[in-house]
Amino acid sequence: MHALSSIPCLPEAASTPVGAEVYRGLTALPKRLSPWLFYDQRGSELFEAITALPEYYLTRTEHAIFAEYGDEILAAASGDRTLAIIELGAGTAAKTGLLLAAAARRQGRVSYYPIDISVSALEAGRSRIREEMPEVVVRPIVADYTTELDEIPHPGGRRLVLYIGSSIGNFEPSEAASLLRRLRGQLAPGDLLLLGADHIKDRNTLLPAYNDAAGVTAEFNRNMLTRIRRELGASFRPRLFRHCVCWNDRESRIEMHLESLIQQEVSIPALDLTVGFRRGESIHTENSYKFTPESVGGLLTRSGFVVERAWTDAKKWFGVYLAEAV
Ligand code: AVI
Repeated sequence: MHALSSIPCLPEAASTPVGAEVYRGLTALPKRLSPWLFYDQRGSELFEAITALPEYYLTRTEHAIFAEYGDEILAAASGDRTLAIIELGAGTAAKTGLLLAAAARRQGRVSYYPIDISVSALEAGRSRIREEMPEVVVRPIVADYTTELDEIPHPGGRRLVLYIGSSIGNFEPSEAASLLRRLRGQLAPGDLLLLGADHIKDRNTLLPAYNDAAGVTAEFNRNMLTRIRRELGASFRPRLFRHCVCWNDRESRIEMHLESLIQQEVSIPALDLTVGFRRGESIHTENSYKFTPESVGGLLTRSGFVVERAWTDAKKWFGVYLAEAV
């Protein structure tokens, strides 16, 4: 039997996903907040803007790989079979058009299942694809692929799962392997995964990609505090936090932090919490792991896949890996 008084009594907001994450992260030492908190409406718009920045080479490099090798990728994936295409974290499917077009050239009709948590992004993607590629039948699935992988459809035939954009790099290595293992558990032998992964490169290229001259990434980072202000009534003043970026060579990752410019206290009424910051103390908001072809191969092998083919750009900045479920 429990003595009732020993059970800590947290306010209701601490049991919502945002409340629980903020409570956990800001009472931890060092302080941290999970990158999924970036993506409210404004954060998603800022991320779209980041993908078009001159310093953010990831999106355009992966896009260029799809433009050059799209037909080759689809030929390697399908052999002589018809593919159903599923995409994890598809958003508006802006990056996927080249692959869908290549699939349509190969097999005519294509079934495409974009999975995303955002209904509005899925709707926008469906309308655009319907207009541009009538041979692609879009069947959107509203789900959080990090927790609801059992939503992966199995329409019959061979499945190609797209996980592009180097989103895998935002997970800790153990979480990345566990996510891919869970995905593998939903697939049949012979189904395929196309994984986009950003490669390790010169830090003079990496750092500006996360600290652009126009300050869009800084705003993206600080928007997390604006979101916590709005949703939990927190007294954060985002301008009192500096956007900091560093390259962690040992862990092969870019880190983003928000560093307090002054000693300050922030109250979060919905959580019944007051958080103190020392001057220079930071909140760790994101890791973006960078890979080598060997480290991607190792991750995929540990997760029950075997790499069949890989494509890269002329500078080898980004890799697209086709792996088969074994
Ligand atoms: C979504 N993800 C792959 C981006 C990245 O590059 O890690 C998120 C991002 N963070 C800052 N800029 C972009």
